[in-house]
Amino acid sequence: MEHLRKEYSRDVLNESNVHENPLEQFKIWFDECLNTGTREANAMVLSTVGHDLKPSSRVVLLKNVQEDGFVFYTNYLSKKGQQLFNNPNACLLFFWDVLERQVRIEGLVKTIAESISDNYFYSRPVLSQIGAMISTQSQKIQGRAELEEKFEYYKAHPEQIKRPEHWGGFCLVPDYFEFWQGRESRLHDRLIYERSGSSWTISRLAP
Ligand SMILES: Cc1cc2nc3c(=O)[nH]c(=O)nc-3n(C[C@H](O)[C@H](O)[C@H](O)COP(=O)(O)O)c2cc1C
Repeated sequence: MEHLRKEYSRDVLNESNVHENPLEQFKIWFDECLNTGTREANAMVLSTVGHDLKPSSRVVLLKNVQEDGFVFYTNYLSKKGQQLFNNPNACLLFFWDVLERQVRIEGLVKTIAESISDNYFYSRPVLSQIGAMISTQSQKIQGRAELEEKFEYYKAHPEQIKRPEHWGGFCLVPDYFEFWQGRESRLHDRLIYERSGSSWTISRLAP
């Protein structure tokens, strides 16, 4: 892999051309990513830390940017769910290859209102609703057959489909952002936002 090498020269990131609110800056970059036709621009790495202080990462999909934070949906009993109830500190990471950009977001998660989880759950395709219902996410299972059996059952009994209480949204309320723009010769631009009360302080980090 040592021969894999890419120069980054697509864009620059200046203190003078970023939005003062990092959530707005995120939306600007997100829209720019969508405009490139990138698949799954909303896929992000979510990192959590459990009881044992060992970090754990996986991809989840960003489903909303609300005024106070970033919303994603999952199984509350999953490994990530349990870790987040134990320790709400979490980190989100986006890598948008085509734009040579990375965004790191840190903060505390909270659960969102059940009514909002309901709205989102029932807006999903029925087969995805069933998938969320029947998966004991992150638990060991005997084999695929047990999943498929439950899946067929609910397909035949759609009137029993209901959002399980253990499936819903988390919102990560950020207190730290880093916007990274790749530059030539590894002299990348890194602008961070740190929350100070109701406003944000912007600083530059060495690459
Ligand atoms: C592109 C992509 C999108 C995913 N989106 C979600 C998601 O929105 N919610 C979710 O719970 N898992 C999602 N997953 C699956 C997770 O990466 C992970 O396997 C699962 O949530 C179990 O993680 P855990 O055992 O650490 O809790 C996605 C995986 C990929 C590759």
